Amino acid sequence: MLQETPILTKNIRSPGYDGSLEAYQKAGGHKALEKALKSMTPETVIEAVKESGLRGRGGAGFPTGMKWGFMPKNTGRPSYLVCNADEAEPGTFKDHFLINRDPHLFLEGLIIGSYAIGCHHAYVYIRGRSQAPAARLQTAIDNLYKAKLLGKAILGTGFDLDITIHRGAGAYICGEETALLESLEGKRGQPRVKPPFPATHGFNACPTSVNNVESLANVPIILNMGPDAFKKLGSTNNSGTRLVGISGHIKNPGIYEVEMGANLKSIIYDLGGGMRDGKQIKVVIPGGTSSNPLKPEEIDIAYDFDAVAKAGSMLGTCSLIVLDEDTDIVDLAYRTIVFFNHESCGQCTPCREGTFWLKNLVRDFHDNLGDQGKIDRIRRVAATMFGTSLCALGDAAAGPMKAFVEKYPEEFRKHFI
Ligand SMILES: Cc1cc2nc3c(=O)[nH]c(=O)nc-3n(C[C@H](O)[C@H](O)[C@H](O)COP(=O)(O)O)c2cc1C
Ligand code: SF4
Repeated sequence: MLQETPILTKNIRSPGYDGSLEAYQKAGGHKALEKALKSMTPETVIEAVKESGLRGRGGAGFPTGMKWGFMPKNTGRPSYLVCNADEAEPGTFKDHFLINRDPHLFLEGLIIGSYAIGCHHAYVYIRGRSQAPAARLQTAIDNLYKAKLLGKAILGTGFDLDITIHRGAGAYICGEETALLESLEGKRGQPRVKPPFPATHGFNACPTSVNNVESLANVPIILNMGPDAFKKLGSTNNSGTRLVGISGHIKNPGIYEVEMGANLKSIIYDLGGGMRDGKQIKVVIPGGTSSNPLKPEEIDIAYDFDAVAKAGSMLGTCSLIVLDEDTDIVDLAYRTIVFFNHESCGQCTPCREGTFWLKNLVRDFHDNLGDQGKIDRIRRVAATMFGTSLCALGDAAAGPMKAFVEKYPEEFRKHFI
């Protein structure tokens, strides 16, 4: 029977814990910050994060320490750390859970990360309509200033840091790191051509690291337990734990923390309690709507970056959407592509036109006007979108459509004219 491994959620799981600064410090909070600022150099902090093997929790799984290490030093320009708290991927609700329940954990990671990369003004980018987490965050930041843990000479050291919250207007694409930076600069949120990458030309063309909330929340944990102990958690090349958000037709939806590499089927049955009303699983979307669907016979795998990729999907944001035997796959595919078509920023022809044509084609099945030629056309349109766009949204829209028609052809045949 799979059990949770509460490390990021240790405080949250403690009875009576309210996430205030007082409660956080009573539970041992800010020890890692003190250690970093008083006994480590920025380089040794980066080295510790590198050694821990921490991979980014925002979707792509890029090593956090390496990202910080890439940033050029002594450029004569300021460096920035921008925390990506947008969280608009359908099915994903782990970052705002952390912000709501234990905001000081990731804020401690944000301060340590800023010290490591030489940043003196950090930003947290969060959607405008996420009012409760944004308000919670503002209170937490205000309290850090009052406690002199932000501002000038933090903990009596020579390190100064300000944090500003930036509320986005609510476009999914603004979670993509370069679109986020455009939006932060006050421009229309559209992904940039890369290179140059944010490490050298990010916010206001200055060296910038964009890091996810959960990635930053791991940083104090790494410094407290040591990189070697952290590396022992999880599976090879996939260290640490993950916050898994389970939704859909599941008995016990919610956030669960497991070691990376835990068995996916056990997460669904042992932690999520299996399907409601004794139904069978029809489809599992393993990492938010951008990830390819898995059939029930494909879920007896390790839940980590590499094993889920090997199964033809991606771990993404660890947001499991589990749907039962009564689910209409065509309806699911249609809702998904309507979302991607609406959220495509329109810069790249394959993504702009491809999401539009995929939406029209899937709608024909939705309206019982499908035929074999349209199934073939869905596959052809999707094929033109892979690798031909500026950002990952183009591939993320095409992949699930191709997978739906290939894995569930009988579901599409049911909607033939
Ligand atoms: C369309 C799109 C939306 C994204 N939304 C988010 C988001 O809401 N939060 C996030 O952390 N990363 C998001 N990402 C990934 C970011 O571009 C980036 O990889 C991430 O913030 C880096 O942080 P990490 O290295 O800590 O994972 C998104 C990517 C794409 C293509
Ligand atoms: S792939 Fe789509 S969302 Fe991304 S930049 Fe191109 S048009 Fe915009």
